[in-house]
Amino acid sequence: VIVKAVAYASTANIGPGFDVFGISLDVGFDTVEARLIEKDVLIEVTGIGASFISRVPSMNTAGLVAEKALKDYDIEGGIGLKIHKGIRPGSGLGSSAASASATAVALSRLFNLNISKQELVKLASIGEIASAGVAHADNVAPSILGGFTIVRSYNPFDIMVVQPPEDLAFCIALPEIVCSTRTARSVLPKEFPIRDVISNLGNASSLVAGMLLRDLKLVGRSMEDRVAEPYRSKLIPGYDAVKRYAKEAGALGVAISGSGPSIIALIDSKESSGKEVREAMKNGFSEAGVRCETFLAKPARGAETVEVN
Ligand code: HSE
Repeated sequence: VIVKAVAYASTANIGPGFDVFGISLDVGFDTVEARLIEKDVLIEVTGIGASFISRVPSMNTAGLVAEKALKDYDIEGGIGLKIHKGIRPGSGLGSSAASASATAVALSRLFNLNISKQELVKLASIGEIASAGVAHADNVAPSILGGFTIVRSYNPFDIMVVQPPEDLAFCIALPEIVCSTRTARSVLPKEFPIRDVISNLGNASSLVAGMLLRDLKLVGRSMEDRVAEPYRSKLIPGYDAVKRYAKEAGALGVAISGSGPSIIALIDSKESSGKEVREAMKNGFSEAGVRCETFLAKPARGAETVEVN
């Protein structure tokens, strides 16, 4: 039996929600085919950026998920994985999470694991150790569940899903630079002054209120962050200009997507096509001598199996 599953891209943090907030994005997806083999975990990778991805299971997000599943669910034998990348690795768009999520979903079906969605997210989060060094769940949660997700707690594991407002859309600029999550985490301080904590708490709470009240302006002005942005923006040439120009062009809020280097700008798709904001972001990067691609993204559905044969 071969089970094939897909999982979409995602953006994490959304400003104040470091390791807590995430939204699935319809800008691309990874596909994983899983099958039972005699022993070990064997990995093949094709698609965008495949040459940059390790085939060693313990250094591969999908491989780690497969090893964990073999161990936790007493599966006899091994797992063969064929990963097809539809999301560029190192882009800040949840590429590693999409592979891990599709793998968790495929394995759950392949071995009839009968596990809850929360457990599925927890299993997939193990994959992030390969790319980030820690099992953060803010990309795998939206990739598996779809929509806007909140990691309330890691221990015990507790995840919430909120359907984002219909007209929520992001303009995304993906510059031609690569930034590893590991590096982007290493530049963050270990402790923060209380005023920064208060600021992020206020913005994170208001961002959730904005989602529930369907108030995109409130969501946008809550995308302020003092935990990661001040340190990570230095790793993205042109960041300040991209942010300023996007806001001048009408973006409701701007933030680094996950650990970067992609930047997200919130728009209300009822009021704007995003064309001006995308142009503005492109100009910001080009002034810094950096080429970028831009997309318009809407929240995507959760991961699912697409074929069993
Ligand atoms: N919350 C994670 C980080 C997301 O910012 O490091 C990585 O995509």
